[in-house]
Amino acid sequence: MDLGLQDKVVIVGGASKGIGRAAALGFAREGAKVTIAARDPDQLNATAAEIRQDTGADILAVPSDLSQAEATDRVVDETLARFGTVHVLVANTGGPPMGGFDNMDDAAWEAAFALNFLSTVRLMRRVLPHMKQQNWGRLLSVMSMSVKEPIDGLILSNGVRPAVVGMAKTLSREVGSHNITVNTVLPGLILTDRLRSGITARAERAGQSFDQTLEASAANIPLKRVGDPQEMANVIVFLASEAASYVNGVSIQVDGGVVRGLL
Ligand SMILES: NC(=O)c1ccc[n+]([C@@H]2O[C@H](COP(=O)([O-])OP(=O)(O)OC[C@H]3O[C@@H](n4cnc5c(N)ncnc54)[C@H](OP(=O)(O)O)[C@@H]3O)[C@@H](O)[C@H]2O)c1
Repeated sequence: MDLGLQDKVVIVGGASKGIGRAAALGFAREGAKVTIAARDPDQLNATAAEIRQDTGADILAVPSDLSQAEATDRVVDETLARFGTVHVLVANTGGPPMGGFDNMDDAAWEAAFALNFLSTVRLMRRVLPHMKQQNWGRLLSVMSMSVKEPIDGLILSNGVRPAVVGMAKTLSREVGSHNITVNTVLPGLILTDRLRSGITARAERAGQSFDQTLEASAANIPLKRVGDPQEMANVIVFLASEAASYVNGVSIQVDGGVVRGLL
């Protein structure tokens, strides 16, 4: 299948590691020009160098904290200066801290809102005029399966991420006439550093090995294993492609079937 991503310009947030990194690599393999963003400049530059070496693609690394308005502007501005336009945006960052309702003050809620919701809105707002002008665009965000089935102990994530899905669905209806699609991708358990550190902490608390805890975590997943970042990237790259031209306004979980709901 020709995905039609050769020479397309793609921005991927949270791309020094994990799902974002896998997505950036997937786009680079398709011949896209890719801007990657994350806070730690050393890790980000190392990832950019690895992707360049693997694929020969043109990769721009923009160190930035995407919860800050200045940083989202800078990522888009530097992409436009280097590549001239933006065809695909993958809004992605880290997740907010774990915890229950009693642990969260206004500052915690505001930080989660800035990290997951405002970062997405600001990036989409900045790239949309260019997508409208070229009558082609793909807006994607990476949230969590928790928007379909809230996860106990993740009150910030459960509270803030559904707002992104509501916003994205509405936006998909506003910009569809410009040949721009807006979709949301919802990871289940994907074996990235974020999951690794959660499994390690739980293994220590339970006095178990990492592998025992990982296996126990996968017990309720119909496929009986956690996902690989590449399996997320495959869906992200497809949704960004020409091949997904009639997929609009959806939020799709990539979770091995663990969400029990029908929709
Ligand atoms: N992995 C899973 O099982 C899973 C499940 C459900 C939902 N998710 C969600 O999927 C998204 C990606 O998760 P992941 O597993 O790939 O996480 P990860 O392996 O921890 O990677 C997160 C990436 O985002 C960057 N990042 C974090 N905060 C940022 C910020 N403020 N501005 C810019 N970049 C930032 C990190 O680099 P720096 O730290 O250097 O900035 C890193 O490159 C997160 O929202 C996560 O909560 C993941």
